[in-house]
Amino acid sequence: MTSNERIGQRSVGQGAALITGASTGIGAAIAEKLAARGAELVLVARDSARLEAVAERLRAEHRVAVLTVPLDLSRQDAPARLAKRLEDAGVEVGTLVNNAGAAHIGAVGDVDPARIRQLADLNAGAVAETTALFLPAMLARGRGAIVNVASTAAYAPAPHNAVYGASKAFVLSFTRGLWYETRGTGVRVVAVSPGATETPMNPGRAPGKRRPEQVAETVVAALRGRAPAVVDGWAYRLQTFVFGRVLPTRTATALTGRFFLRAARHVR
Ligand SMILES: NC(=O)c1ccc[n+]([C@@H]2O[C@H](COP(=O)([O-])OP(=O)(O)OC[C@H]3O[C@@H](n4cnc5c(N)ncnc54)[C@H](OP(=O)(O)O)[C@@H]3O)[C@@H](O)[C@H]2O)c1
Repeated sequence: MTSNERIGQRSVGQGAALITGASTGIGAAIAEKLAARGAELVLVARDSARLEAVAERLRAEHRVAVLTVPLDLSRQDAPARLAKRLEDAGVEVGTLVNNAGAAHIGAVGDVDPARIRQLADLNAGAVAETTALFLPAMLARGRGAIVNVASTAAYAPAPHNAVYGASKAFVLSFTRGLWYETRGTGVRVVAVSPGATETPMNPGRAPGKRRPEQVAETVVAALRGRAPAVVDGWAYRLQTFVFGRVLPTRTATALTGRFFLRAARHVR
């Protein structure tokens, strides 16, 4: 019997934690934290070898069952295929972490339109559909948790990363709405917004940059809390407060645009 099959038979009680984008960066760090707490895991990303390497490490270090499901979540049929795969394996999802995401960096006119659609589908569409697929069973059980990973870029328009910012604003607003809908159901819903975090998406060290483990700690704390939205780290909490609530939108947009324009020049 493989580790992948064992998880189906052991998926009782609180259920497994399903983490998308779990092969690197923040998703892998969240998987590590939850495995350390004894959670059975379902890990999703496109690169199956990288995903399986993370799973193998977690099985060995934490003695937990881990199922890997390689999928491109930007594909229209991916969330439904994921749900079917888990249903067939008898896996009950107790915690869903919608973390997979990508950015484009660059003016909209410079980005391949197909890439723009793909980003919106991955960062926003897949998050909403995956949530809708796993929520009903959580509501029926009267317990469960959904963490949607947004971004500080959700709090103000993001010129030169506009689709990314808009998709994260979608995630934040969607999650806040869902939080309200699910009050009193036993299902915990929360959006967690990291700021700049040192991962393959945002490589290199810089002052104030967070480590994926810190974001994962914030996710674990957010699961225990009650707020609909949490920002990782006090400096980013201050930043989102200022950009989202204090500055006029046009000023916040200009400052964010300057930041991403510099990033775009760096990427080129
Ligand atoms: N790093 C930051 O500064 C930062 C800041 C704010 C918010 N965030 C958010 O945090 C989340 C994680 O980002 P990260 O920095 O950890 O990025 P990362 O290291 O690039 O990891 C992204 C993860 O998502 C997976 N992924 C990418 N495209 C996918 C697709 N089409 N289908 C399925 N899986 C896919 C990747 O694996 P494969 O490539 O194998 O698919 C990988 O596991 C994202 O939602 C991101 O927007 C990051």
